Amino acid sequence: MVNDSPRKKVLVFRELPPDQLARLQAQHDVSVANPREPEQLAAFNAALGSAQGMIGASYPINEAVLACAPRLQVISSVSVGVDNYTLSALAARGIVLCYTPGVLTETTADTIFALVMATSRRLVELANHVREGHWSRNIGEELFGWDVHGKTLGLLGFGRIGQAVARRAALGFGMPVLYHSRHPVNLATAAPDLLGKAVHTPFDDLLQRADIVAAVLPLSNETRGLMGPREFGLMKAGAIFINGARGAIVQEAALLQALNQGGLRAAGLDVFATEPLPMGSPLRRHPRVTALPHIGSATFETRHAMAELATTNLLQALAGERPLAVFDTSAGLSPAPLAGQRDGPVTG
Ligand code: DGY
Repeated sequence: MVNDSPRKKVLVFRELPPDQLARLQAQHDVSVANPREPEQLAAFNAALGSAQGMIGASYPINEAVLACAPRLQVISSVSVGVDNYTLSALAARGIVLCYTPGVLTETTADTIFALVMATSRRLVELANHVREGHWSRNIGEELFGWDVHGKTLGLLGFGRIGQAVARRAALGFGMPVLYHSRHPVNLATAAPDLLGKAVHTPFDDLLQRADIVAAVLPLSNETRGLMGPREFGLMKAGAIFINGARGAIVQEAALLQALNQGGLRAAGLDVFATEPLPMGSPLRRHPRVTALPHIGSATFETRHAMAELATTNLLQALAGERPLAVFDTSAGLSPAPLAGQRDGPVTG
């Protein structure tokens, strides 16, 4: 891949754990500047001019940013989602994009399943009921929840994370699983434990049949705004919607309408069109919305594993080796599988 002089200029644009930063500093000249912090923006812009490698996440690296980085050879994203990067511009410049599939699969699936549980059993609302001193007698029907076990789960997307959610649902909670993805997944090879338990289903059918619909697919031009008035209108009365993918997959006004005037029971959202969620967003305080601050992969173990894989990717690319996890920028949003891992579509 990339190989000329040994020490390169590396720009870290989101904090790395100290041990991973030290790995980079041992081999390269490293600047750290997070452009999301207003006081670090000037340092970020200044470092772009000489940066040969970048590592970070959660900041749009678009054509304007790339234009300020004429020497850039590789970006290592500490994320599985690559929607922050203008792929066509990276492909045109031959800039290598690395990412972190695989290491966050189970943690993100845990988060999505936690949202399934929280929305169905009204966990946050009922915990607040206790915290706020309202538990003065046994609760009545007005606070009852809804069973999770046995309900039909509809997954929009069926990559690693979708399959991990399906395992929790089908094997742990006896839930029939429907999934929609561009192509049916060959379960016999990709996920034999889900054979007969997860069924590829046309999009509209899935929305009409599932009790709980969860989005676990990458953001792309095809999936932007995927869930709008028509789609929420197709969902069963009393169904629940979960978004563990990207906020822009959902038309938020349509979601609110489905909650307020349609039959949607509840929504569990880890992601939003604008993050952090603006103070004025009606989703912030909606009584039937469980909103999380984009914590899909946010555990100590997993965030460290992501940083470690991203650092390894960057070091490998800068050393002229093929990194463990390279995203194929020329193929749009169809990521290549992580070396040594199960094949199949990868979702964010
Ligand atoms: C990812 O890795 O894409 C997570 O959503 C964190 O951004």
